[in-house]
Amino acid sequence: MNTLPPLNEQAADDCAALCAEITDKIKQNNGFLPFVDYMNWALYAPKYGYYSGRNEKIGRYGDFATAPQLTDLFGKCLSQQIQQILPQTAGNIYEFGAGTGKLAVDIIQTLPENTWQNYYIIELSADLQQRQRDYIQQKIPQYAHKIKHLDRLPETFDGFVFGNEVLDAMPCEVVEKRKDGIYRMGVTNTPQGFDWASEKATGFLLEQAAFRLPESPTPYRTEINLQAEAFVRTLAERLNYGGMLWIDYGFDRKEYYHPQRTMGTLIGHYRHHTVGNPFVLTGQMDLTAHIDFSAIADAATSQDIDFIGYTTQAAFLLSCGITDFLADLGDTASETYIKTVAAVQKLLNPHEMGELFKCIAFGKNIDPDWVGFRNLDLSAKL
Ligand SMILES: C[S@@+](CC[C@H](N)C(=O)[O-])C[C@H]1O[C@@H](n2cnc3c(N)ncnc32)[C@H](O)[C@@H]1O
Repeated sequence: MNTLPPLNEQAADDCAALCAEITDKIKQNNGFLPFVDYMNWALYAPKYGYYSGRNEKIGRYGDFATAPQLTDLFGKCLSQQIQQILPQTAGNIYEFGAGTGKLAVDIIQTLPENTWQNYYIIELSADLQQRQRDYIQQKIPQYAHKIKHLDRLPETFDGFVFGNEVLDAMPCEVVEKRKDGIYRMGVTNTPQGFDWASEKATGFLLEQAAFRLPESPTPYRTEINLQAEAFVRTLAERLNYGGMLWIDYGFDRKEYYHPQRTMGTLIGHYRHHTVGNPFVLTGQMDLTAHIDFSAIADAATSQDIDFIGYTTQAAFLLSCGITDFLADLGDTASETYIKTVAAVQKLLNPHEMGELFKCIAFGKNIDPDWVGFRNLDLSAKL
């Protein structure tokens, strides 16, 4: 904690206000708030939640960097994939959790003008919605009329649906297997602040934990993201014609619930530091957990939808021509080229984002041979 940059006065006040709200919730809940509810409030509480507040969040001056912030070649590659699928649908693009709006701008700037009809953004954070509108207005005012924010999921989709690092931002359950059974983890109030508490897991959560967690060792703590799974299931159900692509960090189930991963993947991000304790800097720190892609695949394919592919981010970007886009930059001695090479290396390097990040896709009533999934097929691992 000592090495973390301090909160400024406003942030400290907002953090205290949010902690007071959560303290009340814990009291109303007889001293135990499930972790999933704590995470939901810490990230999305109307005024003081991490994604609701005015804090910078994404990028160099925020708490974490995402692929679109590193280089516009990420968006260019995605546009290759979108361009292949879009003619088979009504030409609508749906981006979930559009962050700063940079990915939307990079994609639109790459797509030929007549290939898309509408670019819809579905964003929970009102603050980010405003930033997206401002960025779009500044960069591509000529297309602003074709870019619309939706405040809820459409009842049916026809188009290309996608999100980068959205599933990991959905509140997850934390469970712990002990010698005497499986527990649902939560938070309680102590004189020193919030702390972990637990109660016996029951119902669907118990069923899922018993199915997913390894026999041993104990104690074994991990996450289950039922909300992300329900979200993907709903979209799979509502998709009519088109495709759905999710990019995020995570693993197949065997690797996720590996016996050696005894403390799960839950982590906080604050000004480019990782923080292990989720109960500090509440509302000022991002909270996230990795994705169990086997569960995402199961959730989607429980509906009438085709599985398209599962691969690494590196393989996906290479298949979509990232090295050609790099070559298009020309002068290899220019500052732009040198900076872009560094960013591309980060996206592709197996020890950075290349292998930890995965791409998973589903389609309905469209050609299943997607350009991004031609190089490396990891679907047997799911
Ligand atoms: C880690 S950020 C990623 C932002 C952006 N996609 C990027 O790559 O920079 C997560 C984003 O997902 C949004 N989000 C989380 N749950 C969502 C949901 N159910 N619907 C729409 N957006 C959501 C957050 O508000 C935030 O914009």
